[in-house]
Amino acid sequence: MKIAAGADHGGFALKQAVVRRLRSLGHEVIDVGTESEDVSVDYPVYGHKVGELVASGEVERGVLVCGTGIGICMSANRHKGVRAADCFTPYHAEITRRHNDCNVLCLGGRLLSEDEAWAITEVWLETPFEGGRHEQRVALLDEEDPA
Ligand code: RB5
Repeated sequence: MKIAAGADHGGFALKQAVVRRLRSLGHEVIDVGTESEDVSVDYPVYGHKVGELVASGEVERGVLVCGTGIGICMSANRHKGVRAADCFTPYHAEITRRHNDCNVLCLGGRLLSEDEAWAITEVWLETPFEGGRHEQRVALLDEEDPA
């Protein structure tokens, strides 16, 4: 799978670990940065970069990491067609794939160990979208006037 990855300084270390594991499984990863945890950077920069790559179809999925996963998730979700979810457990990852067709996984670099993050990522990679009643709900996410 072609996957874009990004992080701010708070997510740098975990992003490096997740990217390394994704590549070892054979995934093609575009790493948009950041490149260090020593320089404070703005999480929306990286959230928007990955959001654009997913929204344009250049990559199938994205992985984003900041301190909590929250701010970088908000940034990615500004892009139409992006369904980013901050996941704290494998259950979050399973349900957001099955029900929300989540295409951007967000992780908290200051909250999760590498093994916890990878357990979440594996479930997110392997779980299919259920479709059915969820198709219409997911389509409504991008509607201007869904009511
Ligand atoms: C950076 O200190 C921190 O605010 C950021 O990584 C993230 O947690 C924001 O949501």
